[in-house]
This record gives sequence, C-alpha cells and structure tokens, in this order.
Amino acid sequence: DKQKLDIIKENIKAFEDFPKPGIIFRDIFSVLADPSLFKLLHEVLLSHVKEIQPPVEYICGVDSRGFIFGSILAVFLRVPFIPIRKKGKLPGPVDSITYELEYGQDTLEIQTNIIKEGGRVLIVDDLLATGGTLWAAAMLISNLKAEVVECLTIIELLDLKGRNKIPFPVYSLIQF
Ligand code: PRP
Ligand code: HPA
Repeated sequence: DKQKLDIIKENIKAFEDFPKPGIIFRDIFSVLADPSLFKLLHEVLLSHVKEIQPPVEYICGVDSRGFIFGSILAVFLRVPFIPIRKKGKLPGPVDSITYELEYGQDTLEIQTNIIKEGGRVLIVDDLLATGGTLWAAAMLISNLKAEVVECLTIIELLDLKGRNKIPFPVYSLIQF
C-alpha cells in the first residue's frame, strides 16, 4: 500500500494561491479524474478500514467531500452512511455544533436519533487542515453519546497540526 500511496500522492495536483494568496490547495479531485488512480485509492482505503477495531457500525461523511469516500466505505462495510452537513441542509430535527473558523464560525448538523447511544462511528473526510471541521464532527458524535472509533482522512496537512485538536484516534493516508 505504501507504493500505491506514493503514486497517488505524486498525482494530487497542487494549486498555489488558492483560494487565497499563500495557500497551496491540494486537489483530491485530480486523483478521482483518473480511473486507475481512483482504483488505487479505493484499494488502500478498503484495506485500511477492514482492519479498524472495534468494527464500526456507522460511517459519517463530512460535507461535502467526505461524502465521496464515506459512501464507498459504507457500501463495503455494509453499515449505514450518515451525512454530517453544513447548517440548514438537512430536513427534520437536527443536532448541531458550532465551531470557529479562521474568520468567523460555522455549524455542522446531523439528523436527530439517527445514531444510537453507544454506536461505534467512523468519521470520514477528504482532508485534515486546521482540524476545526473534524473536531466539530467528532464532538457532534460524542455529544450523542456514540463512540468515535476513528476520524479518517485521505490527506493531512502536517504543518497545521490539526490532529492535536482532536481527542479521538485520527488516521490519514497521505501527508504533506
Ligand atoms: C475542506 C475539507 C475539510 C475541511 C478541512 O472543506 O474538505 O472538510 O475543509 O479544513 P479544517 O481542518 O481546517 O477544518 P470545505 O470547508 O472547503 O468544504 P467542501 O468540502 O464543501 O469543499
Ligand atoms: N485542499 C482541499 N481542501 C482544503 C485544503 C486543501 O489544500 N485546505 C483546506 N481545505
């Protein structure tokens, strides 16, 4: 899997000064646009989640790119796929959490009672940067008295030390 990950990493396009000056944007969609690279990524993702202990009972994908990878894994593990969405997108009663961004705040929501107390949850997103988003998703799940077994991302931006914010196991496939 190390070799596969090296190939994938080399093919993640970097865009300088996007979305703001000074930022290097790592674009996972450049991998998905190539079927053989997407297949490699699919293989390493599946071989990782097969080994997660204890086995997870739910997969929560984080809006919006977490939906892509989370849904693949939910089909493979045959567990429910549950979206964690930005404010105002989910119908019916929701539980929510507000978190700090670089400038301002954002809110994530999950439909109420969709995860049982004590349920074992894998949270999936494409990328860990400052960790604000994954922190909020993980706190949202733990506030439901469910268990955050792991927070999984494809990419981790190490300089930002996002994982230090998150009081649960964090796993990333590729680091920059
Ligand atoms: C990106 C990325 C993560 C988050 C990571 O999503 O997909 O969800 O930012 O940043 P953080 O670790 O600093 O919180 P974005 O908010 O751009 O939304 P999108 O997935 O809808 O594009
Ligand atoms: N790529 C994609 N999404 C992001 C990034 C990035 O480099 N940084 C924060 N969100």
